[in-house]
This record gives sequence, C-alpha cells and structure tokens, in this order.
Amino acid sequence: MKEIELKNGDLLRLDEPSVNDAADMISYAKKVGDETDNLTFDGADFKITVEQEEAVILKHQSENNHLILLAKINNEIIGMLSISGSHRKRCKHIGEFGISILKKHWGKQIGTIMLTEMITWAKNEGHLTKINLSVLKQNVRAVKLYERLGFKHEGVRSRASFQGGKYLDTYLMGLEIDS
Ligand SMILES: CC(C)(COP(=O)(O)OP(=O)(O)OC[C@H]1O[C@@H](n2cnc3c(N)ncnc32)[C@H](O)[C@@H]1OP(=O)(O)O)[C@@H](O)C(=O)NCCC(=O)NCCS
Repeated sequence: MKEIELKNGDLLRLDEPSVNDAADMISYAKKVGDETDNLTFDGADFKITVEQEEAVILKHQSENNHLILLAKINNEIIGMLSISGSHRKRCKHIGEFGISILKKHWGKQIGTIMLTEMITWAKNEGHLTKINLSVLKQNVRAVKLYERLGFKHEGVRSRASFQGGKYLDTYLMGLEIDS
C-alpha cells in the first residue's frame, strides 16, 4: 500500500486488491467502460461474475509476473491497472497491461503515478523484462503518456476495434526493462 498526495490535495492510495474488492472492481470496470471509447469493452460487455473476479485476483496474487494495482480516493476505486505475463518459459518475461482511470480524475498525473509504480515493480521483481501494450491511435492522451515514460512504437495493428461503423487501428508499443 502506498499513499501519494495529489497536487489538488486529494490522497491517492495504491493497493493490490484482496478478494473483498471483487464486487467493487466489477462496478468500477462497468462504469469506466461506459465512460470511454478507448477500452476494449463497454459496461454491458463486462460480464465477469464476482466469483470469476475473485479467481482473477487470486491468480494475480499467486503469479510472480502478475500485478493488479487499484487506485483509490476516499476508499473509492478510481483507477485500475493490471499486468500479466505468460506461464510459458519462452515468453514469461513479457507482460501485457491495461490501465484505466475514471474520467473525472484524468489529467491529475494518476496515470503517470500508476505506470511508474508498475515499472518500478517490474524492475524490483526482475521477472518481466519487456512490457507490451496496444493503444488506439485516436487515444492521444494515452499515447503521449506512454511515450513520455519511454515506451517505443513497435508497429500498427489494423482493424483492432470496431466502433460507430468504423474499424480503428492500434499502435503496438513496448518498453524494455533492465534493472
Ligand atoms: C489514458 C489514461 C490512463 C491517462 O491517465 P491520466 O491520469 O489522465 O494521465 P496523466 O495525467 O498522468 O498524463 C496525461 C498526459 O496527457 C496529456 N494530455 C491531456 N489531455 C490531452 C489531450 N487532449 N491530448 C494530448 N495529450 C493530453 C497531459 O498533458 C499529460 O501529459 P503531461 O503530464 O506531459 O502534461 C486515462 O486518460 C484513462 O483512463 N483513459 C481511459 C482509458 C484508457 O484510454 N486507457 C488506456 C488504454 S491503452
């Protein structure tokens, strides 16, 4: 657990979840999915049950190349990051992550704080030496954030999402971790 005071005075808490967070994590995911077109799901698409979410939490706790970080303000989940690596030995050094923050908290450096925490965790743990992500080309805020933290562009994937009758491309980006 880590507490950071934001510029506006709010106290941000970064926590790894316990199974008791499962129901709140589902409510959070449904809410954030409806707030933005930049995730792979909307609220209706997020159909995970509390039992399934509990299993995801336990899996992340038991694998050394997995991490979930919850960002909370006043005990409410306002952001979530999860990264997981493969169990196969040829690719278990690669982690793929997703991050989201509730819209009312965008632009307060919370994304920067959460990603920096994830990179520090990867360096300290030493199990992941490559972090990959894909991000919609249109998601300029996220692309800028990843570039600023050192992620490199590695390619473009076409037809990665279908929204409003149109296919959208994603950038593939990656960060090599050397501790
Ligand atoms: C992407 C996301 C995680 C960023 O989180 P955040 O807390 O707003 O990020 P930060 O405040 O740390 O940094 C955002 C950066 O974007 C910049 N930015 C803000 N609005 C922008 C805009 N319209 N265009 C370009 N850059 C913008 C900010 O200036 C800041 O950079 P700076 O610190 O160099 O000034 C958050 O917006 C989010 O959850 N979006 C919805 C889900 C999502 O897109 N997830 C990523 C999927 S790959």
